[in-house]
Amino acid sequence: MKQPDIFSTQVGRRRFLGVGAGVAAASAVGAVCGAGAGVNSYDQGTREAAGARAAAGAAAPTPAASSDHSMPASTVPGRPKASGKLATVYDAALPALDSSPKKAIVMESKDAVIEVAGGVLFNAWTFEGAVPGKVIHVRQGDSVDFTLKNGSQMGHSIDLHAAQTPWNINYKTILPGEAYSFNWKANFPGVFMYHCGTGPVPQHLLNGMYGAIVVDPAEALSPAREYVLVQSELYLKQAADGTKWDGDLNRMLAVQPDFVVFNGAANQYQQQPLAASVGERIRLHVVNAGPTLFSAFHVIGAIFDRVYPDGNPANVLRGMSTCTIPPGGGATFELVIPDAGQYPFVTHSFAYTGLGAVGLIETT
Ligand code: CU
Ligand code: CU
Repeated sequence: MKQPDIFSTQVGRRRFLGVGAGVAAASAVGAVCGAGAGVNSYDQGTREAAGARAAAGAAAPTPAASSDHSMPASTVPGRPKASGKLATVYDAALPALDSSPKKAIVMESKDAVIEVAGGVLFNAWTFEGAVPGKVIHVRQGDSVDFTLKNGSQMGHSIDLHAAQTPWNINYKTILPGEAYSFNWKANFPGVFMYHCGTGPVPQHLLNGMYGAIVVDPAEALSPAREYVLVQSELYLKQAADGTKWDGDLNRMLAVQPDFVVFNGAANQYQQQPLAASVGERIRLHVVNAGPTLFSAFHVIGAIFDRVYPDGNPANVLRGMSTCTIPPGGGATFELVIPDAGQYPFVTHSFAYTGLGAVGLIETT
Protein backbone atom coordinates (compact mmCIF):
# COMPACT_ATOMS: atom_id res chain seq x y z
CA MET A 1 0.00 0.00 0.00
CA LYS A 2 1.60 3.24 -1.16
CA GLN A 3 1.57 6.14 1.21
CA PRO A 4 2.21 9.82 0.63
CA ASP A 5 5.71 10.73 1.67
CA ILE A 6 4.67 13.01 4.48
CA PHE A 7 7.94 12.74 6.36
CA SER A 8 10.39 13.48 3.58
CA THR A 9 13.19 15.89 4.28
CA GLN A 10 13.73 16.40 0.58
CA VAL A 11 13.58 20.13 1.12
CA GLY A 12 15.86 22.20 3.26
CA ARG A 13 17.85 19.46 4.92
CA ARG A 14 20.38 22.02 6.10
CA ARG A 15 17.57 24.07 7.50
CA PHE A 16 16.53 21.13 9.68
CA LEU A 17 20.04 20.63 10.85
CA GLY A 18 20.20 24.30 11.62
CA VAL A 19 17.16 24.02 13.86
CA GLY A 20 18.92 21.32 15.81
CA ALA A 21 21.89 23.58 16.21
CA GLY A 22 19.73 26.29 17.66
CA VAL A 23 19.37 28.52 14.62
CA ALA A 24 16.48 30.99 14.60
CA ALA A 25 13.07 29.44 15.04
CA ALA A 26 11.94 31.05 11.79
CA SER A 27 13.85 28.31 9.98
CA ALA A 28 11.43 25.82 11.41
CA VAL A 29 8.75 26.81 8.94
CA GLY A 30 10.42 24.41 6.55
CA ALA A 31 10.08 21.55 8.97
CA VAL A 32 6.82 20.19 7.61
CA CYS A 33 7.45 19.50 3.98
CA GLY A 34 5.64 16.57 2.51
CA ALA A 35 4.89 15.24 -0.90
CA GLY A 36 1.98 16.54 -2.85
CA ALA A 37 -0.12 13.39 -2.67
CA GLY A 38 -3.19 13.25 -0.50
CA VAL A 39 -4.93 15.81 1.63
CA ASN A 40 -4.20 15.68 5.32
CA SER A 41 -3.07 17.85 8.16
CA TYR A 42 0.54 17.55 7.10
CA ASP A 43 -0.26 18.88 3.66
CA GLN A 44 -2.05 21.74 5.33
CA GLY A 45 1.12 22.37 7.26
CA THR A 46 3.06 22.30 4.03
CA ARG A 47 0.82 24.97 2.53
CA GLU A 48 1.22 27.13 5.60
CA ALA A 49 4.96 26.63 5.53
CA ALA A 50 5.03 27.55 1.85
CA GLY A 51 3.14 30.72 2.66
CA ALA A 52 5.60 31.59 5.38
CA ARG A 53 8.49 30.93 3.04
CA ALA A 54 6.93 33.11 0.35
CA ALA A 55 6.47 35.89 2.89
CA ALA A 56 10.11 35.55 3.84
CA GLY A 57 11.15 35.65 0.18
CA ALA A 58 12.49 32.10 0.26
CA ALA A 59 12.42 29.65 -2.62
CA ALA A 60 9.47 27.30 -2.89
CA PRO A 61 10.22 23.70 -2.03
CA THR A 62 10.58 21.04 -4.67
CA PRO A 63 7.95 18.36 -4.13
CA ALA A 64 9.36 15.04 -3.00
CA ALA A 65 10.11 12.97 -6.06
CA SER A 66 8.58 9.75 -4.87
CA SER A 67 5.81 8.51 -2.68
CA ASP A 68 8.12 5.72 -1.48
CA HIS A 69 8.93 6.98 2.00
CA SER A 70 11.30 4.15 2.79
CA MET A 71 14.34 6.40 2.81
CA PRO A 72 15.26 9.85 3.99
CA ALA A 73 16.35 11.92 1.04
CA SER A 74 19.49 13.90 1.57
CA THR A 75 20.10 16.62 -0.98
CA VAL A 76 23.21 17.88 0.74
CA PRO A 77 26.35 17.10 -1.29
CA GLY A 78 28.85 14.95 0.52
CA ARG A 79 26.34 13.62 3.01
CA PRO A 80 25.30 9.97 3.23
CA LYS A 81 22.36 9.15 1.02
CA ALA A 82 20.14 6.12 1.42
CA SER A 83 19.38 4.08 -1.65
CA GLY A 84 17.44 0.86 -1.91
CA LYS A 85 16.40 -1.53 0.81
CA LEU A 86 18.30 -2.65 3.87
CA ALA A 87 19.79 -6.13 3.61
CA THR A 88 18.47 -7.02 7.05
CA VAL A 89 15.97 -5.54 9.47
CA TYR A 90 16.69 -5.51 13.22
CA ASP A 91 14.29 -7.86 15.00
CA ALA A 92 12.26 -5.63 17.32
CA ALA A 93 10.47 -8.47 19.13
CA LEU A 94 11.20 -8.61 22.87
CA PRO A 95 13.29 -11.76 23.38
CA ALA A 96 11.69 -14.42 25.56
CA LEU A 97 12.37 -14.28 29.28
CA ASP A 98 14.47 -17.03 30.82
CA SER A 99 12.49 -17.98 33.91
CA SER A 100 15.52 -18.65 36.13
CA PRO A 101 15.92 -16.02 38.89
CA LYS A 102 19.70 -16.24 38.53
CA LYS A 103 21.04 -15.17 35.20
CA ALA A 104 24.45 -15.06 33.56
CA ILE A 105 24.78 -12.48 30.82
CA VAL A 106 27.92 -12.09 28.71
CA MET A 107 28.37 -9.16 26.36
CA GLU A 108 31.33 -8.63 24.10
CA SER A 109 32.40 -5.35 22.57
CA LYS A 110 33.12 -5.80 18.87
CA ASP A 111 33.83 -3.57 15.92
CA ALA A 112 31.33 -4.18 13.12
CA VAL A 113 30.05 -2.68 9.89
CA ILE A 114 26.36 -1.81 10.23
CA GLU A 115 23.99 -0.78 7.43
CA VAL A 116 22.28 2.28 8.95
CA ALA A 117 20.22 3.22 5.87
CA GLY A 118 19.87 1.55 2.46
CA GLY A 119 23.46 1.13 1.24
CA VAL A 120 24.99 3.36 3.94
CA LEU A 121 27.64 1.38 5.81
CA PHE A 122 28.80 2.56 9.23
CA ASN A 123 32.05 1.49 10.91
CA ALA A 124 30.47 0.97 14.33
CA TRP A 125 31.70 0.13 17.79
CA THR A 126 29.14 -2.31 19.17
CA PHE A 127 28.00 -4.66 21.86
CA GLU A 128 27.62 -8.12 20.34
CA GLY A 129 28.09 -6.90 16.78
CA ALA A 130 24.80 -5.01 16.56
CA VAL A 131 23.51 -1.45 16.96
CA PRO A 132 21.72 -1.33 19.27
CA GLY A 133 23.37 -4.17 21.16
CA LYS A 134 21.36 -7.22 22.13
CA VAL A 135 18.34 -6.66 24.36
CA ILE A 136 18.86 -7.71 27.98
CA HIS A 137 15.60 -9.18 29.35
CA VAL A 138 15.38 -10.06 33.03
CA ARG A 139 12.74 -10.02 35.77
CA GLN A 140 12.48 -7.87 38.86
CA GLY A 141 14.30 -9.60 41.70
CA ASP A 142 16.68 -11.48 39.43
CA SER A 143 20.33 -11.79 40.38
CA VAL A 144 22.45 -11.12 37.30
CA ASP A 145 26.07 -12.20 36.86
CA PHE A 146 27.22 -9.82 34.17
CA THR A 147 30.44 -10.22 32.18
CA LEU A 148 31.86 -7.71 29.73
CA LYS A 149 34.46 -9.05 27.32
CA ASN A 150 36.49 -6.73 25.16
CA GLY A 151 36.86 -8.14 21.66
CA SER A 152 37.62 -4.82 20.00
CA GLN A 153 40.57 -2.51 19.42
CA MET A 154 40.29 -0.07 22.32
CA GLY A 155 39.09 0.19 25.91
CA HIS A 156 35.35 -0.08 26.61
CA SER A 157 33.07 -0.42 29.62
CA ILE A 158 29.44 -0.98 30.55
CA ASP A 159 26.92 1.28 32.28
CA LEU A 160 23.61 -0.44 33.03
CA HIS A 161 20.89 2.04 33.94
CA ALA A 162 18.87 -0.82 35.49
CA ALA A 163 21.56 -1.56 38.10
CA GLN A 164 22.56 -0.07 41.44
CA THR A 165 26.30 -0.61 41.60
CA PRO A 166 29.46 1.46 42.19
CA TRP A 167 30.48 3.24 39.01
CA ASN A 168 34.15 3.48 39.93
CA ILE A 169 34.40 -0.28 40.40
CA ASN A 170 32.03 -2.04 38.03
CA TYR A 171 31.82 0.45 35.19
CA LYS A 172 35.58 0.61 34.74
CA THR A 173 37.21 0.42 31.33
CA ILE A 174 38.29 -3.02 30.13
CA LEU A 175 41.22 -3.23 27.73
CA PRO A 176 41.22 -5.29 24.50
CA GLY A 177 41.36 -9.01 25.27
CA GLU A 178 40.26 -8.52 28.89
CA ALA A 179 37.02 -9.46 30.65
CA TYR A 180 35.36 -8.29 33.86
CA SER A 181 32.41 -9.67 35.83
CA PHE A 182 30.16 -8.32 38.56
CA ASN A 183 26.78 -9.15 40.02
CA TRP A 184 23.78 -6.86 40.20
CA LYS A 185 20.19 -7.29 41.29
CA ALA A 186 17.27 -6.09 39.20
CA ASN A 187 15.45 -4.16 41.93
CA PHE A 188 13.33 -1.93 39.70
CA PRO A 189 11.10 -2.99 36.82
CA GLY A 190 11.17 -1.00 33.64
CA VAL A 191 12.93 -0.26 30.40
CA PHE A 192 16.43 1.12 30.69
CA MET A 193 19.37 2.13 28.58
CA TYR A 194 22.75 0.51 28.75
CA HIS A 195 25.85 1.94 27.14
CA CYS A 196 29.60 2.14 27.14
CA GLY A 197 30.77 4.66 29.72
CA THR A 198 34.38 5.01 28.61
CA GLY A 199 35.44 8.55 27.92
CA PRO A 200 34.81 10.51 25.95
CA VAL A 201 31.34 9.00 26.45
CA PRO A 202 29.71 10.83 23.51
CA GLN A 203 32.33 9.30 21.22
CA HIS A 204 31.40 5.80 22.35
CA LEU A 205 27.69 6.56 22.14
CA LEU A 206 27.75 8.05 18.68
CA ASN A 207 29.76 5.07 17.47
CA GLY A 208 26.95 2.71 18.48
CA MET A 209 27.64 1.41 21.98
CA TYR A 210 24.16 1.29 23.52
CA GLY A 211 21.14 -0.93 23.96
CA ALA A 212 18.04 -1.67 26.02
CA ILE A 213 17.36 -3.57 29.23
CA VAL A 214 13.81 -4.70 29.93
CA VAL A 215 13.09 -5.70 33.54
CA ASP A 216 9.69 -7.37 33.79
CA PRO A 217 7.78 -6.47 36.96
CA ALA A 218 7.62 -9.18 39.64
CA GLU A 219 3.88 -9.26 39.12
CA ALA A 220 3.53 -9.88 35.40
CA LEU A 221 1.63 -7.46 33.20
CA SER A 222 -1.19 -8.73 31.00
CA PRO A 223 -0.17 -10.68 27.89
CA ALA A 224 0.75 -8.49 24.95
CA ARG A 225 2.66 -8.33 21.69
CA GLU A 226 5.92 -6.82 22.96
CA TYR A 227 8.50 -4.90 20.97
CA VAL A 228 11.67 -3.02 21.88
CA LEU A 229 12.63 0.20 20.09
CA VAL A 230 15.81 2.17 20.69
CA GLN A 231 15.81 5.67 19.22
CA SER A 232 19.18 7.21 18.47
CA GLU A 233 20.92 9.76 16.29
CA LEU A 234 23.67 8.97 13.79
CA TYR A 235 26.39 11.51 13.04
CA LEU A 236 28.60 10.47 10.16
CA LYS A 237 31.72 11.45 8.26
CA GLN A 238 33.26 9.73 5.26
CA ALA A 239 35.65 6.97 6.28
CA ALA A 240 39.17 6.78 4.88
CA ASP A 241 38.17 4.06 2.40
CA GLY A 242 35.78 6.50 0.71
CA THR A 243 32.84 4.11 0.77
CA LYS A 244 31.87 3.64 4.40
CA TRP A 245 31.14 6.13 7.18
CA ASP A 246 32.63 6.76 10.60
CA GLY A 247 31.06 8.45 13.60
CA ASP A 248 31.62 12.22 13.67
CA LEU A 249 32.06 13.83 17.08
CA ASN A 250 32.00 17.34 15.62
CA ARG A 251 28.59 16.81 14.03
CA MET A 252 27.38 15.30 17.29
CA LEU A 253 28.52 18.29 19.29
CA ALA A 254 26.79 20.58 16.76
CA VAL A 255 23.65 18.36 16.90
CA GLN A 256 23.65 17.80 13.13
CA PRO A 257 22.38 14.24 12.76
CA ASP A 258 22.48 12.50 9.40
CA PHE A 259 19.86 10.02 10.55
CA VAL A 260 17.53 9.62 13.51
CA VAL A 261 16.55 5.99 13.74
CA PHE A 262 14.76 3.25 15.61
CA ASN A 263 16.94 0.19 16.26
CA GLY A 264 19.93 1.44 14.34
CA ALA A 265 18.65 1.89 10.78
CA ALA A 266 16.59 4.53 9.02
CA ASN A 267 12.99 3.66 8.19
CA GLN A 268 13.53 -0.08 8.56
CA TYR A 269 10.05 -0.75 9.95
CA GLN A 270 8.52 0.73 6.85
CA GLN A 271 10.35 -1.97 4.93
CA GLN A 272 9.12 -4.57 7.44
CA PRO A 273 6.32 -3.27 9.70
CA LEU A 274 5.79 -4.42 13.28
CA ALA A 275 2.87 -6.84 13.10
CA ALA A 276 -0.08 -6.99 15.49
CA SER A 277 -3.65 -8.20 15.43
CA VAL A 278 -6.67 -5.94 15.59
CA GLY A 279 -7.73 -5.66 19.23
CA GLU A 280 -4.48 -7.16 20.55
CA ARG A 281 -2.61 -5.37 23.33
CA ILE A 282 0.70 -4.00 22.02
CA ARG A 283 3.47 -3.10 24.45
CA LEU A 284 6.33 -0.98 23.12
CA HIS A 285 9.41 -0.69 25.31
CA VAL A 286 11.18 2.41 24.02
CA VAL A 287 14.64 3.64 25.00
CA ASN A 288 16.02 6.96 23.84
CA ALA A 289 19.76 6.40 23.54
CA GLY A 290 20.27 9.95 22.21
CA PRO A 291 23.06 10.94 22.55
CA THR A 292 21.37 14.37 22.65
CA LEU A 293 17.87 14.70 21.20
CA PHE A 294 14.67 14.20 23.13
CA SER A 295 12.12 11.82 21.64
CA ALA A 296 8.49 12.88 21.23
CA PHE A 297 7.14 9.38 20.79
CA HIS A 298 3.82 9.11 19.00
CA VAL A 299 1.84 6.58 16.98
CA ILE A 300 -0.21 8.17 14.21
CA GLY A 301 -3.83 7.07 14.32
CA ALA A 302 -3.58 5.55 17.79
CA ILE A 303 -3.65 6.54 21.45
CA PHE A 304 -1.66 4.93 24.25
CA ASP A 305 -4.16 3.74 26.84
CA ARG A 306 -1.27 3.38 29.29
CA VAL A 307 2.22 4.85 29.39
CA TYR A 308 4.71 3.82 32.06
CA PRO A 309 7.55 6.37 32.33
CA ASP A 310 10.80 4.43 32.70
CA GLY A 311 8.67 1.34 32.09
CA ASN A 312 7.70 1.03 35.76
CA PRO A 313 4.02 0.05 36.08
CA ALA A 314 3.84 2.08 39.31
CA ASN A 315 4.13 5.15 37.06
CA VAL A 316 1.00 5.03 34.96
CA LEU A 317 -0.35 7.68 32.62
CA ARG A 318 -3.60 7.23 30.72
CA GLY A 319 -4.81 8.23 27.31
CA MET A 320 -1.58 9.77 26.03
CA SER A 321 -0.87 10.66 22.41
CA THR A 322 2.72 11.94 22.51
CA CYS A 323 5.25 11.46 25.30
CA THR A 324 8.71 12.81 25.93
CA ILE A 325 11.54 10.36 26.43
CA PRO A 326 14.74 12.10 27.52
CA PRO A 327 18.14 11.02 26.24
CA GLY A 328 19.18 8.18 28.53
CA GLY A 329 15.56 7.44 29.46
CA GLY A 330 12.88 4.98 28.53
CA ALA A 331 9.14 4.45 28.64
CA THR A 332 6.74 1.61 28.01
CA PHE A 333 3.72 2.33 25.84
CA GLU A 334 0.61 0.18 25.68
CA LEU A 335 -2.03 0.46 23.02
CA VAL A 336 -4.83 -1.54 21.47
CA ILE A 337 -5.65 -0.77 17.84
CA PRO A 338 -9.29 -1.32 16.95
CA ASP A 339 -9.02 -1.27 13.16
CA ALA A 340 -6.86 -2.97 10.55
CA GLY A 341 -4.36 -0.69 8.87
CA GLN A 342 -0.98 0.99 9.08
CA TYR A 343 -0.03 3.17 12.03
CA PRO A 344 3.29 5.05 11.79
CA PHE A 345 5.36 5.47 14.96
CA VAL A 346 7.57 8.53 14.97
CA THR A 347 9.39 11.05 16.98
CA HIS A 348 7.02 13.98 16.57
CA SER A 349 10.01 16.31 16.71
CA PHE A 350 9.64 17.13 13.06
CA ALA A 351 13.05 18.43 12.16
CA TYR A 352 14.21 14.88 12.79
CA THR A 353 11.24 12.69 11.85
CA GLY A 354 12.15 12.58 8.17
CA LEU A 355 15.75 11.58 8.90
CA GLY A 356 14.61 8.01 9.40
CA ALA A 357 12.57 7.99 12.61
CA VAL A 358 9.39 6.58 11.06
CA GLY A 359 8.28 2.98 11.37
CA LEU A 360 4.97 1.25 10.87
CA ILE A 361 2.77 -0.89 13.03
CA GLU A 362 0.53 -2.94 10.76
CA THR A 363 -2.60 -4.52 12.18
CA THR A 364 -4.54 -7.29 10.46
CU1 CU B 1 33.18 2.04 24.40
CU1 CU C 1 24.12 6.51 31.22
